[in-house]
Amino acid sequence: MNVYCSPDCYLERSDWWKAVSADDRCSLTIIESYETGVKTMKLWAGRFSKEIDKKTNDFNSSISFDSRMYREDIQGSIAHAIMIGECGIIDKSESEAIVSGLEKILADIDSGKLVIDPNAEDIHTFIEGELTQRLGQTGKRLHTARSRNDQVAVDIRLYLKKEVRNIQKMVKELIAVICSKAEQYSTAVMPGYTHLQRAQPITFGHHLMAYAEMLLRDLHRLECAFDHMDEMPLGSGALATTTYPIDRTITASILGFAGISQNSLDGVSDRDFCMELASVLSIIMVHLSRFSEEMIMWCSWEFKFVELDDAFSTGSSIMPQKKNPDIAELVRGKSGRVFGDLMTLLTVMKGIALAYNKDMQEDKEAIFDAVDTVKMCLTAFTPMLDTMRVIPENMRKAAANGFINATDCADYLVKKGLPFRDAYKATGTLVALCIEKGTTLEELPIDEYKKICDVFDEGVYEAISLENCVNGRNVLGGPAAENVKAQAERVKKIIE
Ligand code: ARG
Repeated sequence: MNVYCSPDCYLERSDWWKAVSADDRCSLTIIESYETGVKTMKLWAGRFSKEIDKKTNDFNSSISFDSRMYREDIQGSIAHAIMIGECGIIDKSESEAIVSGLEKILADIDSGKLVIDPNAEDIHTFIEGELTQRLGQTGKRLHTARSRNDQVAVDIRLYLKKEVRNIQKMVKELIAVICSKAEQYSTAVMPGYTHLQRAQPITFGHHLMAYAEMLLRDLHRLECAFDHMDEMPLGSGALATTTYPIDRTITASILGFAGISQNSLDGVSDRDFCMELASVLSIIMVHLSRFSEEMIMWCSWEFKFVELDDAFSTGSSIMPQKKNPDIAELVRGKSGRVFGDLMTLLTVMKGIALAYNKDMQEDKEAIFDAVDTVKMCLTAFTPMLDTMRVIPENMRKAAANGFINATDCADYLVKKGLPFRDAYKATGTLVALCIEKGTTLEELPIDEYKKICDVFDEGVYEAISLENCVNGRNVLGGPAAENVKAQAERVKKIIE
């Protein structure tokens, strides 16, 4: 069982508590667990006469997942310490001591010299406790005019802003690979599909560039999410700001925020920027998942449009011939996690009264998982795509079957003056005839064409040649080689 230890008891047992003078103990309480012998600092001493139950402490704690924000927490605290120093809320000398104390803590965590205590309640408590251990009385002045509610609100924004930039960089790398493959295969004719049925001829480059466009919009969506989290909430306090004469513009400018939150309740109690980011990440995962599904299909013997590099495929434990596209499958599968994270965030937030509620501590695992998953997927997907071997011959073979030039055959008749519906019907009859004879439109003799419609002449073969069908579609957005090259050029400029 855990019991509250009196000051005398912890004075004897704790080394680090020695730094704190006797009269400070009333506001910071060191509690040592009889079970674990672990000493932790509690922030709410005074009001409480008992230590929190051990299992409850574990349940309440977020240190296992928020310690990754230690850098942002220290960054936020440094800015806050400078600001309260400059505003004369604490002595300049104490502000400076706090800043250099925090810098040392940061360096010590970075170097591994200081290990984050897994028994601390959260990263904010740990850093403040460590600072107090090192600086004593002065350390305890850091939390003047601040609450953990605005502290966590600034930490998570700083952390996610950094991650949005990382993800944007990774998305750009993927887009760059797509563009270079698209340029390389701008003339590789393949069937375009609807309903997974061969539909009309396109080029592989054109197909790839569709994903580049989706990812470009994802980049823009990430930028919007960034802008929405670029508001500095420090100064909101617990919920109602503070009576100290703080200057929020100082902290905002030190921390590099574009704006300052304009309502203190909103500043500490919305996590819409997490939901927005999770939505954007979910959309990215939808795009990666569809792309993965196509890669999986294209790798199959039924298609064999591409072959993955050995370094990005796996074998089977029993079937020696197998080469499996596990990475693409995992990316497709992991999309579910990210959608789940979004659902977690929406559900956590939907029913809580303003302002902060502890429910909101659940935001971190969800949004961190979404961020980690997307980064992991991009890390694997981009080089997989970059190193794949494209097999244009197989694409061309697939394009030769399935009558994907039937629309062009009908269009040929229309250009000769037939109404489209009549042309459509004549071509449909020709396709049925080809199927019956086991041939293709390209191979069907001109006499057979003429029997069905006397408008046909030898020119039809040129009109239905797949290369002409593709290159004739040179309107803006089309699959013609010149268009694909122009699309890739445009996209490359945008991501530069
Ligand atoms: N660990 C908490 C969180 O992640 C920090 C905020 C605590 N604030 C509070 N009033 N208990 O949300």
